[in-house]
Amino acid sequence: MKSIAFSSRWLSLSLLILLTSVSAIPHNIPRLGVFDHKSLRDPSDTIPAFVWEDLETYFYNQTLDHFNYNPPSYATFKQRYVINSKYWGGANESAPIFVYLGAEAPIDGDIQFIGFLPENAPNFKALIVYIEHRFYGQSVPLGPVKENQGYFSSAQAIADYAEVILYLKENLSAQKSPVIVIGGSYGGMLASWFRLKYPHVALGALAASAPILYFDDIIPQNGYYSIVTKDFQEVSESCYETIKQSWSVIDEVASQPNGLSILSQRFNTCS
Ligand SMILES: *[C@@H]1O[C@H](CO)[C@@H](O)[C@H](O)[C@H]1NC(C)=O
Ligand SMILES: *[C@@H]1O[C@H](CO)[C@@H](O)[C@H](O)[C@H]1NC(C)=O
Ligand SMILES: *[C@@H]1O[C@H](CO)[C@@H](O)[C@H](O)[C@H]1NC(C)=O
Repeated sequence: MKSIAFSSRWLSLSLLILLTSVSAIPHNIPRLGVFDHKSLRDPSDTIPAFVWEDLETYFYNQTLDHFNYNPPSYATFKQRYVINSKYWGGANESAPIFVYLGAEAPIDGDIQFIGFLPENAPNFKALIVYIEHRFYGQSVPLGPVKENQGYFSSAQAIADYAEVILYLKENLSAQKSPVIVIGGSYGGMLASWFRLKYPHVALGALAASAPILYFDDIIPQNGYYSIVTKDFQEVSESCYETIKQSWSVIDEVASQPNGLSILSQRFNTCS
């Protein structure tokens, strides 16, 4: 009986995974939602107490370079991960582990605003783990950025996640607990790649709004732009027309000497 209940739980989760839609977003992937991650600094300031009290923060000594045997590659940095064990059925029950793969922002905002994990964890008696992406928030390698930026890649990031997950399963004696990796947008791309590359570590991946095929020469490149255009057009035809006419003007200004700084001033961009 127990195993039937267990597998029906997994069935509903797999349906959920299948039903999750994929939408196209360009290379420069915008964040989900309207939340301004830059406004977050100290997590205890910004995560409401009722969320915060269920969370434990840890730091993992992460390897800087997973793909090289050069001595400098063994350098480590502190990678932040946050655990919510409120709903976990425990290792003895082989209760699952939901791992949220951090994307291109500090992890604080996602913990605060992404309800999917805490909403679903009670049904599955799941442990929730959030891991911060390298080079964001409190998971930034020490030393000059110029020296380290070669290690700032998605391949390194998912290798980080594999290491943390394997370490945690060992630490919690939870080898039998199935792991589902979860992410949105770029984080969803990471979740899909993780499942492809580390199938022995994650039983499944949930990739929400993840443009996994959105690369040059894989699919026609007008998909994203036509969807965005349609969004604007549906709201306001004149807005659509105005924006459309602006591109050639912007190109013209940009091509003049000093044109880019004129644009920076007009659009009040950051430095
Ligand atoms: C992590 O590294 C620090 C030194 O940077 C060390 O003091 C600490 O013991 C290490 N932790 C683990 C769990 O290896
Ligand atoms: C889990 O199982 C082990 C071995 O059967 C037992 O020693 C331990 O107390 C159990 N832990 C919990 C939390 O039930
Ligand atoms: C893992 O184990 C060590 C002790 O061996 C402990 O200090 C640490 O907090 C544990 N838990 C996690 C979630 O890393």
